[in-house]
Amino acid sequence: MFSLAVDLTDVPVLAVGGGPVSARRVHAFLAAGAAVTVVAPTLCPALQPLPLGVRWHARGVAPEDLDGVRLVHTATGDPEIDRKVVEMAGERGIWCVNASASAEGTAVVPARASVPTPTGEVTVAVSSADPVRSVEIRNRISHDLRTEPTGLRPRRPHGGWVALVGGGPGDAELLTSRALTLLHSADVVVIDRLAPHSVLQTLDPDVLVIDVGKVPGRHAVPQHEINRLIVEHAHAGRGVVRLKGGDPYVLGRGEEERLACVAAGVEVEVVPGISSALAVPAAAGIPVTHRGISRGFTVVTGHDQIPQLPADTGHTLVILMGVAQLRDTATRLIALGRSADCPVAVVERGCTPQQRVTVAPLARIAGVAAARGVESPAVIVVGDVVRLGPDWAAGLAQCDELDHDRHDELDVLGIDLKASA
Ligand SMILES: C[S@@+](CC[C@H](N)C(=O)[O-])C[C@H]1O[C@@H](n2cnc3c(N)ncnc32)[C@H](O)[C@@H]1O
Repeated sequence: MFSLAVDLTDVPVLAVGGGPVSARRVHAFLAAGAAVTVVAPTLCPALQPLPLGVRWHARGVAPEDLDGVRLVHTATGDPEIDRKVVEMAGERGIWCVNASASAEGTAVVPARASVPTPTGEVTVAVSSADPVRSVEIRNRISHDLRTEPTGLRPRRPHGGWVALVGGGPGDAELLTSRALTLLHSADVVVIDRLAPHSVLQTLDPDVLVIDVGKVPGRHAVPQHEINRLIVEHAHAGRGVVRLKGGDPYVLGRGEEERLACVAAGVEVEVVPGISSALAVPAAAGIPVTHRGISRGFTVVTGHDQIPQLPADTGHTLVILMGVAQLRDTATRLIALGRSADCPVAVVERGCTPQQRVTVAPLARIAGVAAARGVESPAVIVVGDVVRLGPDWAAGLAQCDELDHDRHDELDVLGIDLKASA
């Protein structure tokens, strides 16, 4: 076989067979702009309704179906019919793919993928005698192209740019394709503490990395200084990725940075990321909504808005930056009507190998968290959905072993401990 890429725009293509394999190829031929006709007695659900522009003859294949056709694909599920179709196509000098026995056809469709790279979209196409192996190799190459340094970083002749990129909750596997493309195009990466630092290893060595995250013993770089840095590098003609934790627009000051770029006349793009508000509960096995249990959720910080929150335990609260105020938050939620038994989970360092989940009823969560030395970063989930997580039952049993928690419980419930002692 000689590998070739062909232009199928408006080319008449005949697909013989109406099953799932044929359906997949029909959609691919259509995406390439071909004029597709299907011949098959019946169609599988993937071809119903018939995609726009496809003609269907509801019967078995006949020789006249090949008239005027320039490419045939046969996948009838019957090797005899497929062989016959290949033969009829051969007699007319038409390329024919035989899906049931690729070696018997006169054309093959390789395992394909389109991969975005800094210099544009690349098509990876792999064919070998073993189609399963071809798919594995295609996946491997596509993955490497997405995640490894490619040396494809384009030098832009025009001015600099800034991309405010959501890096997700900390696992580099949760970066979007767009995030990786821009990272591998950047001259400068300005990174937050909770962004996925492991992706930095995939950057070219001459990329300037500036860590603006707060680490113990060092203050975070102030916001106005971050704004100044990204604008300054862009004005110097560099491509800047501002890699932020989670999503730039979820409690992440993303809009402030975008406005600073706009005010300075810098081209800026915002790339959404997977917010820890959703990803971290999910990583702990807690769905923020679940039919029959919770129909909605609210994302808040630990500091404010508590009086406005629904008290119903069926409404899930997702609290970010809330560890330091956990006791105060729990006390106020109970005072404002949320049940003291409402389940709570605190998920530390979610989506990382160090993830740890602490659970307790609302009245006892502050004590249990203190006893276990819970620290930021953590996402706090308050609501009946917490019971669905795998840690609830065992965690609840552990609460009872912690004696001093009972004092915490009384404390949160507003009972004067000195008086009761
Ligand atoms: C300044 S907010 C930024 C939120 C971010 N923009 C997002 O969408 O995820 C930082 C807070 O997000 C939460 N957080 C972020 N990543 C986390 C992780 N991997 N595990 C637990 N909490 C995380 C913590 O509550 C942390 O204090």
